[in-house]
Amino acid sequence: MSNLNNRITQKIVDNPQIKKEKDKTATRFVWQRKHLLGLQDLSRQELIHILDTAAGFQEISHRSVKKAPALRGKVVVNLFFEDSTRTRNSFTLAAQRLSADVLEFTAKTSSVSKGETLRDTARNLEAMGIDIVVIRHSSGGATHLLSRCIDACIVNAGDGYHEHPTQGLLDIFTMRELRGDLTGLKVAIVGDIAHSRVARSNIWGLHTLGAQVYLVAPPTLMPSGVRELPVQVSHNFDEIIGQMDVLNMLRVQFERIGSSVFPSTLEYSRMFGLTAERMKRAKKDVIVMHPGPINRGLEIESEVADGPNSTVLRQVSNGLAVRMAVLFLVNQAAAAEKKKSKRVDK
Ligand code: CP
Repeated sequence: MSNLNNRITQKIVDNPQIKKEKDKTATRFVWQRKHLLGLQDLSRQELIHILDTAAGFQEISHRSVKKAPALRGKVVVNLFFEDSTRTRNSFTLAAQRLSADVLEFTAKTSSVSKGETLRDTARNLEAMGIDIVVIRHSSGGATHLLSRCIDACIVNAGDGYHEHPTQGLLDIFTMRELRGDLTGLKVAIVGDIAHSRVARSNIWGLHTLGAQVYLVAPPTLMPSGVRELPVQVSHNFDEIIGQMDVLNMLRVQFERIGSSVFPSTLEYSRMFGLTAERMKRAKKDVIVMHPGPINRGLEIESEVADGPNSTVLRQVSNGLAVRMAVLFLVNQAAAAEKKKSKRVDK
């Protein structure tokens, strides 16, 4: 473990892109959270520590044997009550790369279909000896509830409209990798913000790191309470696109939209879609992001999604390192907590 820690630290120190920012933070920071439920409560130092740790883990993906022993003997459960391609597989691979055993739980094929509650499900899994639960759930409070029911570390993989912290972190990691310090960076989050946990995690993380966040959407797709968020609001994409450094295009979440919130998909893409035509108004080096899955031709045209400014697949690759860092850090905090409580018992 200490060898791995040293290698991660060395990798951080060697990376000139993040060295300047790293120098501003305390060098002997110790991560203390055994749960990652959201980015809203994280300090700048905590965010930077996760991003730096992830930068260290990137190297493992380039080795011929893509393994590190950090979670050897630990059990990570993927507890997914909603569908996922990127997040679930990325957490599985991240846990495997850190040598953990991984338990895959899918609500549809479990005793949840017979009426078992989330609490009972988690407590039964805990009785098998698990260490970290990665949970995706349609309810915004599910991750907090779980953190009060069981002793294992809880990592939020997306809960209702609340937060999707590892998506926020991998988006921020990608921006930082390309631009360095985020202070003053202008980031537009465009589209279905009302139903987006990705938007919320991006808003909190980016704001704490000094970026300027703009929300761009029709009024019907803005969240309630938007005026209390640390953002600027626009309903006119063309008016602001030319000033932006990053365009983070969100999926229209048709599965969560009850009634029609825009007249037609054609109208939506004309007003808020990132088309090749609209890209002509953007900065030449603008970063184009999308968390996936993409509704091609609606929120973003294929030519742009697959074009030179797009970081869609880079985001997915970076997600692996970010999730390795998160699993590593929550486990480290849990181990420290256990050690401390043993000392108190004596
Ligand atoms: N971005 C994201 O959360 O994708 P999945 O739903 O496929 O996990």
